[in-house]
Amino acid sequence: MTADYLVIGSGIAGLTFSVKIAEKFPDRKVVIVTKASEDESNTKYAQGGVAIVLNKEEDSFKKHIKDTLIAGDGLCKEDVVEMVVKEGPDRMEELLLWGANFDVNDSGKFDLGKEGGHSEYRIVHHKDITGYEIERALLSKAHQLQNISILPHHFAIDLITNHHLPEVDLDELTCYGAYVFNQKSGEIFTIKANSTLLASGGIGCVYGHTTNPVIATGDGIAMAYRAKARIKDMEFVQFHPTALYDAKGQSSFLISEAVRGFGAYLRNKKGKRFMLDYDDRAELASRDIVSQSIDSELKKSGEPNVYLDCTHLDMDAFCEHFPNIYNKCLEHHIDIKTDWIPVVPASHYLCGGIKVNKKGKTTIANLFACGECTRTGLHGANRLASNSLLEALVYAHNIFKYHSKNDYKSIAINIPDWNDEGTSIPEEHILIQHNLKQLQALMRDYVGIVRSKKRLKRAIKHLDLIYEEVEDLYRESKITTSLCELRNMVNVAHLIIRQSLERTENKGGYFNVDNVKK
Ligand code: FAD
Ligand code: SIN
Repeated sequence: MTADYLVIGSGIAGLTFSVKIAEKFPDRKVVIVTKASEDESNTKYAQGGVAIVLNKEEDSFKKHIKDTLIAGDGLCKEDVVEMVVKEGPDRMEELLLWGANFDVNDSGKFDLGKEGGHSEYRIVHHKDITGYEIERALLSKAHQLQNISILPHHFAIDLITNHHLPEVDLDELTCYGAYVFNQKSGEIFTIKANSTLLASGGIGCVYGHTTNPVIATGDGIAMAYRAKARIKDMEFVQFHPTALYDAKGQSSFLISEAVRGFGAYLRNKKGKRFMLDYDDRAELASRDIVSQSIDSELKKSGEPNVYLDCTHLDMDAFCEHFPNIYNKCLEHHIDIKTDWIPVVPASHYLCGGIKVNKKGKTTIANLFACGECTRTGLHGANRLASNSLLEALVYAHNIFKYHSKNDYKSIAINIPDWNDEGTSIPEEHILIQHNLKQLQALMRDYVGIVRSKKRLKRAIKHLDLIYEEVEDLYRESKITTSLCELRNMVNVAHLIIRQSLERTENKGGYFNVDNVKK
């Protein structure tokens, strides 16, 4: 198959770019491959909203920039922060034009929420299902454009670069498209593209306990890494402070930070509002601080969870604002009106990823990346809540602008078919499951909120064993989605651990006991 633009992923990043470029060039073909149903993505589960400065009377770009820089703990790129924050209102205008709806108050203005680390009310939202609404609007717009083809249940296995084309003698490492696995038919085919965009989302599933859906296995980052793109800041895994706790320890449902913005308190089992001991902003400190404080409380008490107390809040207003959260808790026999919600931190977001410049260019020619799989410099050591949907919108626009101005040369090369020689053994599901569980336990126990050199080194040793076994399986077995995902998660885990070991100073979401100055 050929495409002018190959887009890997159908969340906010992939869809926004696709809609824009397809509208601008109706005679060019955009192919979106996406590994599950077309709406499945981290985007779909976003709750809190999009951080945008709209109330210019009380808020300002300056304040949003300052909040982002404080959360990022000295590691944000200031020019990137300024660009992203200032473009927010224009990108929001486009979402509205494409049919997305956001809540308004009685005076017809946007009903702005507040979250940890924000000094003002600036979170534009649709109840507590903002991402669902954005994904709906973007897909509906994409379906109206004839030159976009969406291929659901198509898994991108690897990028095609010079490494696959020994006869091509190009100085510059270049991307020519991807090998793609049709998950329904089992066929593997090439998609040759003049430009490829990785919009493949996050890595949450590398940890057993995550707020992310099962698709978040870091495929794009692993593909880019194997293709030798630069990957950066992988040590900055963000743990969301408040995922719903269930006794089996597997629940991943998020209790939005906006609930704390609405006035909820964090309490330990004895009922103490412990955040007051850790930060003047208490429950509304940035999430690195809240997660580390909860971790410290749990270590002191030996309890498995802390609690979020909403019982003092106006419950009619609460249910109006957070109907999804209220109902989900009821399903777990927790009535927020009278019960405290048991919560624990869970892996939520990756601040690092594929290094891109302001135009979304990676270090490989013709390969762009956008959204959660990237490291743009916006988040530094810790992402400010609700800045990631904004980042995806702004970078999708920048990549679109770049493609509008710079015409590409059509690449005339022959790409070899996928070589599956010697891979005749059917996958052994039990081996994949076992290795996955080991990997997730290893990351949770040794590479969690609080790290140490000893645990990280031990993690590398264990990971090497898993790596060898998974690579053997990959060489011998027929391709399956779960095998490819496991292989990708092992690559991502390797990057997180290695880059953690390289960090000698604690910053933002990264805390290593051996880096504490004595
Ligand atoms: P995604 O939306 O995750 O899309 C990735 C796409 O790539 C998916 O379609 C996936 O199927 C596809 N894909 C992945 N690998 C492959 C492959 N190998 N082959 C083919 N397709 C592939 N951020 C905010 O700013 N505000 C919020 O309120 C907020 N709330 C959140 C709540 C939850 C529960 C979660 C999990 C995240 C939240 N975030 C929030 C973060 C935000 O939702 C994500 O960072 C953002 O949606 C990422 O968008 P994306 O387009 O980069 O990736
Ligand atoms: C939330 O609603 O708490 C998630 C917000 C985010 O991750 O930005």
